[in-house]
Amino acid sequence: MTDAELAEGVSTTALMIAAIRAIETRRPDGLVRDEYAEHFVRKARSGVEMPTRIEDVDAGDEDPVWGRLGAYCGLRTRVFDDAVRAAATPQIVLLGAGLDTRALRLDLPAAVRVFEIDRADVLTFKSTILDAVGATARVRCDRLSVDLAEDWDVALLAAGFSVDLPTTWIAEGVLPYLPRPVEERVLGLVDRLSAPGSHIGYEIVLGQESPEFRNHDLYAGTVEAIGSHLPSLLDGGARPDSAGALRAAGWEITERPVADYTVRYGRGPDPSVDDPIRQARWGFGHKKSRVSCLRL
Ligand SMILES: C[S@@+](CC[C@H](N)C(=O)[O-])C[C@H]1O[C@@H](n2cnc3c(N)ncnc32)[C@H](O)[C@@H]1O
Repeated sequence: MTDAELAEGVSTTALMIAAIRAIETRRPDGLVRDEYAEHFVRKARSGVEMPTRIEDVDAGDEDPVWGRLGAYCGLRTRVFDDAVRAAATPQIVLLGAGLDTRALRLDLPAAVRVFEIDRADVLTFKSTILDAVGATARVRCDRLSVDLAEDWDVALLAAGFSVDLPTTWIAEGVLPYLPRPVEERVLGLVDRLSAPGSHIGYEIVLGQESPEFRNHDLYAGTVEAIGSHLPSLLDGGARPDSAGALRAAGWEITERPVADYTVRYGRGPDPSVDDPIRQARWGFGHKKSRVSCLRL
């Protein structure tokens, strides 16, 4: 396969997040170090040249995409990284894994198993680039090419996932793209596959279906920066009450606005700015017991 063929179907959003992690890696005050991110950006032929350093961006940190959204996604990756480390479970499942490289980046114990679920085009591109640069994970990492709207649970179990071991589930930057019934089913399966002691970290965005959200100035630059109008890629329908559903199934869940994390980490999107970043919530929690299962 040539690079061009490889990159044709790569999700532009996955590539955008990789570019943001590449930028973050080069910053002296970076919250994330991902030495693989730059390789993805350089090898992709997405039709749009994405930056790998903030110095490559004319407006720098003032740029709405690479500055402000970049600060959001960089902080998000770090917060979810820390949640994975703190949970310290023997299994980790990345739902909509994209070009994230947690299996390589985080110093996970060798016995941990990582499962990455995403579409085939993204994961084929990812594996090819990682193989080409000789990346080897300390942990076993299985990439499962299956749509989250399909029977990804079957693929997960076939790959050796154990329902008897606690799992950390990460849905970073993926639930807002899923139609409501798919999000409900995904979290229902997460619950059903989770042994007590399992953890979850997820991102939701309130009001993403409103015209005010979709037409906000924050996103105008994404057409040029990534070749797609970002909010148009998000699902436009009503969102489910996922925290409520998880709580009803015995999960202890806390959702917080991003501003809380900007304050806690000392970097991130400026909380005083009133834009759609205020609508995002990052939820974390764990499963206390097997009292009930979400309706599938
Ligand atoms: C914004 S990217 C985030 C990727 C990764 N979690 C990260 O933070 O770098 C969204 C990812 O979700 C994946 N995705 C979206 N809808 C999906 C679906 N229905 N099934 C599987 N993957 C999906 C996309 O292919 C893409 O890789």
